[in-house]
Amino acid sequence: MSANPLAAVIVLAAGEGTRMKSRALPKVLHPICGRTLLGHVVSAAEELTPQQLVVVIGHRRELVAEHLGTEHPAVRPVVQDEQRGTGHAARVALEALAAEGAVPDGTVIVTYGDTPLLSAATLRALAERHAADGNGVTVLTAQVPDPTGYGRILREADGAVAGIVEHKDATAEQHAIAEINSGVYAFDGKLLAGALAELRTDNAQGEEYLTDTLRILGDAGHRVGALVADDHREILGINDRVQLAEARRLLNDRLLDAAMRAGVTVVDPASTWLDVQVSYEQDAVVLPGTQLLGATHLGEGCQVGPHSTLTDAVVGAGATVSNAVVERAEIGAGASVGPFAYLRGGVALGAKGKIGTFVEVKKSSIGAGAKVPHLSYMGDATIGEGANVGAACVTANWDGVNKNPTVIGAHARIGTDNMLVAPVTIGDGAYTGAGSVITKDVPPGALGVNRAQQRNIEGWVARKRPGTASAAAAEAALAASEGEAEEV
Ligand code: UD1
Ligand code: MG
Repeated sequence: MSANPLAAVIVLAAGEGTRMKSRALPKVLHPICGRTLLGHVVSAAEELTPQQLVVVIGHRRELVAEHLGTEHPAVRPVVQDEQRGTGHAARVALEALAAEGAVPDGTVIVTYGDTPLLSAATLRALAERHAADGNGVTVLTAQVPDPTGYGRILREADGAVAGIVEHKDATAEQHAIAEINSGVYAFDGKLLAGALAELRTDNAQGEEYLTDTLRILGDAGHRVGALVADDHREILGINDRVQLAEARRLLNDRLLDAAMRAGVTVVDPASTWLDVQVSYEQDAVVLPGTQLLGATHLGEGCQVGPHSTLTDAVVGAGATVSNAVVERAEIGAGASVGPFAYLRGGVALGAKGKIGTFVEVKKSSIGAGAKVPHLSYMGDATIGEGANVGAACVTANWDGVNKNPTVIGAHARIGTDNMLVAPVTIGDGAYTGAGSVITKDVPPGALGVNRAQQRNIEGWVARKRPGTASAAAAEAALAASEGEAEEV
């Protein structure tokens, strides 16, 4: 990258986030597009492979620390007990590193935990500009349509950055400045430590302002630079759920653009939602109303949607999924799912297999070319290749205590409306009769039937339901057939 190694990234995430009005989650743990707000920031930082990655936590720190521990174990959480300002937060982080002898020697990036759109590319550009210009500090700025609330960038007549004034401390004239402080900076680590020691709290909010380090370093004769972000939306910080939705939309648009540019047809971008981990191959088609979540993968030429939600699903080349909810499933090449199917986890559908209309499948494997076309429930089942399960079949897989397996052999034919009482095995090439309750294994090639003999009670309707439309219809039919018999 440069002669100046990236020593640390410090993410400030100790604030309360009251405007989210959330009892369930601290602000930075709200998710968009498959990651928490903080997760997006940390992932971008991780791409720069800093020597240290620190997240300053405070408000609801147990939850944030736990999240970091599971999702980003290499991150070092540092606790800021009281939120005494952005400068104080940065100071707490640096002091924690110093206590371990790891005083950052080189570039230190400071950023916030609530700016999920900030890309690794922009962070990298900031670090590069900082190193190339030999600055003491370089601030990421943006021209925004409405600068209200932000710190304003003060520039000299020659354009040099003179400092930052907070909205609450600014004059009316300064309020007109549209170039704002994003809150993202690259510092020389040693200079930052020195400047933080000089921060005071004589401002409108009585806080240690990180922004004051620009003036302090400038006054000490160090170069103060700025990088203006290409797209001001990238620095959008999330404070409430309206901004959360706005950020989700922007990030989703970015993900959709990338998918379309890679050869995926998205028929209705406005109603299609992607998570960041989703991957795809060329000529996949996504129909309206579709959510692709988790590590879902779309194979070449597959078609997904309309109105489908896929989570951690792998869709094979040329497969189709329509009006379905699919969780943790592997759908083979050329297979078809739906319309109106629910794959409830742990499902493997072989190549050219079918899970059809109003079918629910859980923890089952369905072999190549095998079909469960209509109105069925298959749970804990292993279905061999080429088998066919008739309409309205159910695996009775749960005895109230244990889940029991059902095995259906290759090329078996399960009759319509069968109850397969597990554990039970239907052998290869076996048949079962329609309407059977199969409680015993059926050997390969055998026909298993289990249903009562039918008996017809002649004339029952005429005797028991006289005067009804049914009785009249029956009488007419019987008279007609008698007439036919006489004619013969
Ligand atoms: C800050 C900047 C402002 C900039 C704006 C961009 C300062 C003094 N002002 O203002 O110039 O335009 O960000 O969004 O820096 N935090 C802590 N500990 C604290 C205080 C804050 O961790 O003690 C964290 C918060 O969780 C948040 C971030 O720092 O993620 C920013 O804090 P906030 O209070 O929102 O600063 P702003 O007033 O928005
Ligand atoms: Mg803020």
